Amino acid sequence: MAYVKISPMRAPREATTAPSPTAPATEAVLLVGGKGTRLRPLTVHTPKPMVPAAGVPFLTHQLARARAAGIEHIVLATSYLAEVFEPYFGDGSALGLHLEYVTETDPLGTGGAIRNAAHRLHSAPGDPVLVFNGDILTGLDIRALVATHRGAGADVSLHLTRVPDPRAFGLVPTDADGRVTAFLEKPQAPEEIVTDQINAGAYVFTRSVIDAIPAGRPVSVERETFPDLLAAGAHLQGMVDSTYWLDLGTPQAFVRGSADLVLGRAPSPAVPGRCGERLVLPGADVAEDAKLSGGTSVAARAVIGAGARVDGSAILPGAWIEPGAVVKNSLVGAGARVGSRTILDGVVVGDGAHVGPDNELRDGVRVWCGARIEQGAIRFSSDM
Ligand code: GTP
Repeated sequence: MAYVKISPMRAPREATTAPSPTAPATEAVLLVGGKGTRLRPLTVHTPKPMVPAAGVPFLTHQLARARAAGIEHIVLATSYLAEVFEPYFGDGSALGLHLEYVTETDPLGTGGAIRNAAHRLHSAPGDPVLVFNGDILTGLDIRALVATHRGAGADVSLHLTRVPDPRAFGLVPTDADGRVTAFLEKPQAPEEIVTDQINAGAYVFTRSVIDAIPAGRPVSVERETFPDLLAAGAHLQGMVDSTYWLDLGTPQAFVRGSADLVLGRAPSPAVPGRCGERLVLPGADVAEDAKLSGGTSVAARAVIGAGARVDGSAILPGAWIEPGAVVKNSLVGAGARVGSRTILDGVVVGDGAHVGPDNELRDGVRVWCGARIEQGAIRFSSDM
C-alpha cells in the first residue's frame, strides 16, 4: 500500500510546556470504534475507517489531513474489529505521526471513547485537543477550528456544516457570536427544525473537559456530554463553514466520497496517485478497451475485463469485473466477481460475493459477503 510521506515525526510536546496562544493543537483523538451498521456488508469483515476509499483505507485520508494541519500525536479509539488497525498503521511513522491505540472491550460510545483515551494524551488541562469522528470526509480548516476555540476561550468548539435536509443529523443552532444555544438530535417535527446547521463530527475540547467526562461507562458526546455542558453554562462555540463535507456512513455516501477523492473534489494528501477520472493502483489489470470514469478507483489485483464500463465506483483488491459488465456508482468488495454483461447501479457487492452474468441490480441493493447470484437471476427491466 502506498503512503504519502509528509515529514519526519517529532516528539510530542511535554505536558509541562506552557501553551502558546497561537500554537496549533498537537494531538487528537480519532473515534474509530463504531460498528458501522449502516454500511453493511462492507463492515462485516472490515471496520468502517479501514474500508478503502480512493485506493487506501479511508482512515489514511483523515490521518494525512491531520498531519498536514500540524497534528503529531493521534490516539485511535478502537473497539469493533480493533485488531486490524495497528498491523496496518503501526506507530504511524510512515505518515509522520505518533499513533497510539486504545481499545474498548465493550463499546463506550463517542463520549466514553474520548474519556477512555485521555490517559494517552500529553496536553495540559488548558490545552486544546482535537477529536474527530472516523467517518467524515471534509475540507475543514483544522487550524481555523483551533484558532476559533482559542479566540472564543471556549470549553468545546464544534465544526458545523449546513445541509439541505438536517433531519438525519444533530442540529446545532448558534447565536450571533457563534455560541451554541441548543443541541437537537435528529428532530422530525417541523417546528424543531430551527436551523440547517449540523454537528459535522470534528471538535476541539479543552483537555480538562475530556477529563470530566464520566469514566468506565457508555457516554454519548452528542446526547449527553454536549447538552449537559450547555445546561451547566459551559461555553460551546460553533464554527460554520461551507467546505466539502460528507458523512460516509451509508454505502451511497461512501461510494460518492471515494469518487470525489479520486476526482480531487474532496481534499486529501493521501490519494495514491494523480487526481482525475480514474485511479488505477499498481497490480490492477485493466483491459485496454475498458472505460473507467467518474472518479473510479481500481485496487491492486483487481481485474477489469474487455469492454467493461465502470463509472464513479470503487473496485476493491482482487475484485473481478468480467467483460462487458457495466458498473455505476457502486462498490465491489474484495475478491468479489461481477459477471459479463451484468449491470450494477448504486449497488454494494460484499467481499467474495459472486454476481453471475446477465443480472441487473440497482438502487441500493446490497449483495452480502460470499453470496452467489446465478446467471440472469435478477433484472429490473425486461430489455436485457
Ligand atoms: P452506524 O452503526 O452505521 O451508525 O455507524 P457507527 O457505529 O460508526 O456510529 P456513528 O456513525 O454514530 O459513529 C460516529 C463515529 O464515532 C464513528 O467514527 C465511529 O467509529 C465512532 N464510534 C461510535 N461509537 C463508538 C464507540 O462506542 N467507541 C468508539 N471507540 N468509537 C465509536
